[in-house]
Amino acid sequence: MSKRTILVTGGAGYIGSHTIIKLYEAGYDVVVVDNLCNSSEESLQRVAQITGRQVPFRRVDIRDRAGLDKVLEEFAVDACIHFAGLKAVGESVAKPYEYYENNIGGTLVLIDALRSHGCKNIIFSSSATVYGNPAVIPITEECPKGHCTNPYGQTKSMLEEIFIDIQKADPEWNIVLLRYFNPIGAHKSGLIGEDPNGIPNNLMPYITQVAVGKRAELGVFGNDYDTPDGTGVRDYIHVVDLAAGHVKALDAIGRKCGLAIYNLGTGHGYSVLDVVKAFEQANGVKVPYSIKPRRPGDIATCYSDPAKAARELGWKAEYGIEEMCRDSWNWQKNNPDGYKG
Ligand code: NAD
Ligand code: UFG
Repeated sequence: MSKRTILVTGGAGYIGSHTIIKLYEAGYDVVVVDNLCNSSEESLQRVAQITGRQVPFRRVDIRDRAGLDKVLEEFAVDACIHFAGLKAVGESVAKPYEYYENNIGGTLVLIDALRSHGCKNIIFSSSATVYGNPAVIPITEECPKGHCTNPYGQTKSMLEEIFIDIQKADPEWNIVLLRYFNPIGAHKSGLIGEDPNGIPNNLMPYITQVAVGKRAELGVFGNDYDTPDGTGVRDYIHVVDLAAGHVKALDAIGRKCGLAIYNLGTGHGYSVLDVVKAFEQANGVKVPYSIKPRRPGDIATCYSDPAKAARELGWKAEYGIEEMCRDSWNWQKNNPDGYKG
C-alpha cells in the first residue's frame, strides 16, 4: 500500500518491535498500542536508538474501546498489524478464560474500533499451531487445520474463522492471516530481542539462558519421536525475516487482496539437537542438555512449504540457522537480564 500510518498492536513485544524497524525502513509511519503485560517500553526506546525515530506509543489495552477510539481519532490509521495477545501455551491450559477473553475479546473490540474509523485493513499474527498435528509435511496453506491441543492455539484458529467470516460479509476488508512458524533470532544490533518472563517455554530462549549461565542445562523434551534423531523438528525462522514478511503483506493489502493466508517459514526443519549443535558451533559456547520426557501436546515434525508467500508476496526468508543462533546469542549476552538489565 502507499506509505501511510500503521497501527501496531503489541508493538512493544518481540515480533512487533522488529517489525516496526522494517516498517520505518519501508517508509511507513507507525503508532503502537500495547498494555505492556508481556513487554516493556524499553524495547521501543531501543527501536528509537536503532532507527533514530521516537516511536509514538500509547499504553492502551485492546479491550479498552474508548482507549482505542482515542488513538484512532488522534492518528489517521490506514492499516493495522495485530500482534497483541497472550501466547504461553502452558499458561493457556491453566487460564483458558483469560486467553479467550484477551485474545478473542480484545480482537473483536479492535475490529469494531477499526471499522468504525473507516480502516478495514488488517494483518493478523496467526500460527502454525492451527495445523495441529499436520496432515502433510511440508505444510502448505491448503493443509486442513487440525485439532489444537490448548486454548492458545484455539484462539488463533477461532480468530482466523472470525476474520474469514467478517471479510466474507464485508468484502471491503483486506485481511492477511500470517501463520508464523518458529521465530527466533534478534536484530543484529543486539539491542532488541526476545525477553521472556520467568522460565522460558520456548527452545531458543532456554538455550541462550543456559549458555549465559542463568540455567544449568537444557531439558530436551523427548528423543523417541519419529524424526531422524528422535527429537522434535521445527521450522525456525529469523525474526527479522518474519518482520519483513509483514511489509510484503501490507503490499498485498495495497493490491486489495481480500482474504489471504500465508505461511511464514523457511521450509527447513531442524531438530532440537540440530539447534543445540548449530548454536554451539555458531557461538563457540557449550549448551549442556539432558533428555527429559516428552512435553504434553508436542508433535514430532512441523515445517512449512513457504512457496505461496514467495510466489504471491515475493517474500523469502534470507537468514539461515547459523545467523539465527548468532543473533539470539548476541542479544542474550549483551542483555543477560533482557530489558530489565
Ligand atoms: P510478545 O508477548 O512479545 O508480544 C505481544 C505483545 O502484546 C506484548 O507486548 C503484550 O504486552 C501485548 N498485549 C497482550 N495482550 C494485550 C492487550 N490486551 N492489549 C494490548 N497489548 C497486549 O509476543 P510475540 O512473540 O511478539 O508474538 C506476537 C504475536 O505473534 C502474538 O499474537 C503471538 O501469539 C503470535 N505468534 C507468536 C509466535 C512466537 O513463537 N513468538 C508464534 C506464532 C504466533
Ligand atoms: N523444546 C525442548 N526443550 C525446551 C523447549 C522446547 O526440547 O526447553 C523442544 C520442543 O519439545 C519442540 C521444540 O523444542 O520440539 C520447539 O519448542 P518451542 O516451545 O520452542 O516451540 P513450539 O513448536 O512448541 O511452539 C512455538 C510457539 C507456539 C507456536 C508454534 C508455531 O510456542 O506458540 O511455535 O509453530 F504456535
